[in-house]
Amino acid sequence: IKVFVPRDAAARSVGADKVAERIEAAAKATGQQIEVVRNGSRGMLWLEPLVEVETPQGRVGYGPVAPEDVDGLVAAGMLDGAALTVGAYLGVVEELPWMKRQQRLTFARVGVIDPRSADDHAEYEGNAGLRKALSMTPAEVVEEVVDSGLRGRGGAGFPTGIKWRTVLGAESDLKFVCCNADEGDSGTFADRMLIEGDPFTLIEGMTIAAYAVGATEGYVYLRSEYPDAVETLNAAIRTARDRGWLGKNILGSDLVFDLHVRVGAGAYICGEETSMLESLEGKRGMVRAKPPIPALEGLFGRPTVVNNVLSLATIPTILANGAATYAGYGMGRSLGTNVFQLGGNVARGGIVETAFGITLGELVSDLGGGTASGRPTRAVQVGGPLGAYLPVEQFDLPMDYEAFAAVGAMVGHGGIVVFDETVDMSAMARFAFEFCAEESCGKCTPCRVGAVRGVETIDRIRNGEDRKKNLVLLDDLCDLMTDGSLCAMGGLTPLPVRSAVRHFGKDFGA
Ligand code: NAI
Ligand code: SF4
Repeated sequence: IKVFVPRDAAARSVGADKVAERIEAAAKATGQQIEVVRNGSRGMLWLEPLVEVETPQGRVGYGPVAPEDVDGLVAAGMLDGAALTVGAYLGVVEELPWMKRQQRLTFARVGVIDPRSADDHAEYEGNAGLRKALSMTPAEVVEEVVDSGLRGRGGAGFPTGIKWRTVLGAESDLKFVCCNADEGDSGTFADRMLIEGDPFTLIEGMTIAAYAVGATEGYVYLRSEYPDAVETLNAAIRTARDRGWLGKNILGSDLVFDLHVRVGAGAYICGEETSMLESLEGKRGMVRAKPPIPALEGLFGRPTVVNNVLSLATIPTILANGAATYAGYGMGRSLGTNVFQLGGNVARGGIVETAFGITLGELVSDLGGGTASGRPTRAVQVGGPLGAYLPVEQFDLPMDYEAFAAVGAMVGHGGIVVFDETVDMSAMARFAFEFCAEESCGKCTPCRVGAVRGVETIDRIRNGEDRKKNLVLLDDLCDLMTDGSLCAMGGLTPLPVRSAVRHFGKDFGA
């Protein structure tokens, strides 16, 4: 019998390793023949550690299971997949409403397979996308990605296929594919969960990108705060090389491509693509002026694909099942699925992969179950620390790049952080400036100095000093930072500030 206990860092942080140990010990004591598989997380983080047992009906779940619960659950028949009357028994995991509501394309294998097993990857149709790509010309692969409508999942939403077209068309004897895994946005963890739960799919996506644009070398820039992901990805890369999925003659073709992991050093700004390239080159992570865009002059000045983890990990399903299938999901110009992340003060936090078009309210209230504190929801921040705050009155907003932009917000990397009625939004606006002051690379004045002045101005407003005048000054400062900053760090900081003032004026003494 296969028993699944996640190895994902979120599950480990609440005792999954101990649970796995106790299950093995209990099975030994009762003489039951089991194999404990350390899978990725399904993304239902409030149920972790979630133990699953393979049965003829499908995988049956128990969660959350504390280490001290294990002996009792085993005695009651957990390892036979028994339908227990205890609270931890969940039934067939795939049938849970949270799972059924989703369309898992990018995350299809996350939580299902053993992320370290190349056999699992192959068994679950791994490399089908790469095989299909290798049967096409590079230009055909690029056009397939264009037709899928896939837009950069890192936050900006630039069409991935168009970016690849630029790199394919650039003349150079050396090109690179760089994966941005410096997932620095607060409330986001999809990149981490993908790498920890299904690293071979990221490798496959990067290999397809390399084939499409003519690159021979790739780098994954992975944040140091994710040590489990670093270990899992390095292990997967070694296995992929042994299997002939990286290196020379990939899958028997002429394709040559190898991949390396580089670990960041904790700077948020290194998630900005040009800072990331500087850091990869061994320099301090400072933003470069654009143009030139990295697609033309990127790593070491060579044409470079820079894509987020989720964009690259979505490529295999697009190639395997066709651009039209992928583009069949979503709405308007936001096609396909996105991996939304629910965090903060939320009852059911975790990963929801669904077609664009689901509303904010469906995500936060229906799937998320409202706040963890049980108090009414007051605000959500969407798209990381540079994203706008939205009130519950806007919960009918569909998750769509354009719909969000129209109300001065952004979908970003898909992180949604929930706050209850006790939140002080002037403190959150202050935090936006504080964060910018802390993480600014210092290259341009509007951001470097503006963020510090922003904190001072909000402090004066919070202290009731000449509120009206200081609110006008704040607005002026936001204009300056939006228009004058060199990159999104300074340029987007006004988004949370202005949205907080606009929707929650009462907290600013309005
Ligand atoms: P951008 O709009 O300047 O560029 C988007 C991408 O398109 C870049 O890779 C750029 O090089 C590329 N591009 C633009 N024109 C192109 C062309 N003609 N051909 C080929 N490629 C082209 O946005 P930026 O500054 O790269 O990203 C800002 C976004 O980053 C924000 O919207 C925010 O949501 C997100 N962000 C994400 C974080 C995370 O942790 N995932 C953290 C902070 C911000
Ligand atoms: Fe650096 Fe901030 Fe200017 Fe970006 S906006 S280049 S982070 S100083």
